[in-house]
Amino acid sequence: MSRYTVTGASGQLGRLVVSGLLQQGVPAEDVVAVVRSPAKAADLAERGVAVRQGDYSRPETLPAALAGTQRLLLVSGSEPGQRIAQHGAVIEAARAAGVERIVYTSILHADTTGNPLAPEHKATEELLEQSGLPSTVLRNGWYTENYTGQLGQYLERGEILGATGGGRVSAATRADYAAAAVAALTTGSDGDAVYELGGTSFSFEELAATVSEITGQTVTWRDLPVAEYAAALQDAGLDAASAGFVAALDESIARGELETDSQDLSRLTGRPSTPLAEAVRAALG
Ligand SMILES: NC(=O)c1ccc[n+]([C@@H]2O[C@H](COP(=O)([O-])OP(=O)(O)OC[C@H]3O[C@@H](n4cnc5c(N)ncnc54)[C@H](OP(=O)(O)O)[C@@H]3O)[C@@H](O)[C@H]2O)c1
Repeated sequence: MSRYTVTGASGQLGRLVVSGLLQQGVPAEDVVAVVRSPAKAADLAERGVAVRQGDYSRPETLPAALAGTQRLLLVSGSEPGQRIAQHGAVIEAARAAGVERIVYTSILHADTTGNPLAPEHKATEELLEQSGLPSTVLRNGWYTENYTGQLGQYLERGEILGATGGGRVSAATRADYAAAAVAALTTGSDGDAVYELGGTSFSFEELAATVSEITGQTVTWRDLPVAEYAAALQDAGLDAASAGFVAALDESIARGELETDSQDLSRLTGRPSTPLAEAVRAALG
């Protein structure tokens, strides 16, 4: 009988969680990786993990995908607008399959934030509560990789543009959040739990200073009014809707919604979150 099932296992976070479970000594035969395209998870199959096909948008695929699962990590989907129905289908299939606990990747301050990505997470948290299944909600903050993934552009332009005002971000690496998910899956707990997860916060001046110091190239931070930032994103090739959306995410940072002083992440993982400088060095290879 499989004990742990990880959805989104072909994605960046899910893949790290599967590896983390194996590194913790969970036998590969007790781990199931649910993916839309099994071909994308051939490496996981080679490690002895059972790879099963499951699509959040095709509920008929979910009973077989989740059969035998005791603890399920539902990695939130990557198709905004469809996620309430998608996550609802997974939660319903989990209930029908007799899953003992669902761990879900939500967003920081899901119940109070004005972040435009939050309503689907809040709705999913409500569906979890209504399902009656014991749940652990991991309210993940921003990935540090949202920024280190743009290092090339920062260095090319010599500046970081945004509309975050004086806002700070309590970002942590995907590896940090994956370690928290592994802990949430493997640690015995009763009842429901909600964790606000984030690393040590940094401002955008600090991000620019860290990049400058580590690369030896001067990179400055330029804060723009939201409309100007959205226009700059359009000049860089984004369509109007996407530019507006990205700028709205920065407005959320400006309101302080991606910041937390919660120590839940380091408490769950048993170690400090990855420092920004270390993540920048890693991204430079
Ligand atoms: N905290 C942050 O800063 C941040 C940033 C970006 C995203 N997120 C959220 O965190 C999640 C995990 O992050 P990530 O970096 O691992 O994202 P990712 O690399 O894009 O992985 C997303 C995973 O979800 C799977 N998925 C999407 N739609 C699905 C569906 N209909 N049925 C089954 N699986 C589906 C994808 O499958 P395929 O491989 O088949 O596409 C992929 O495995 C994202 O999906 C998103 O909800 C958070």
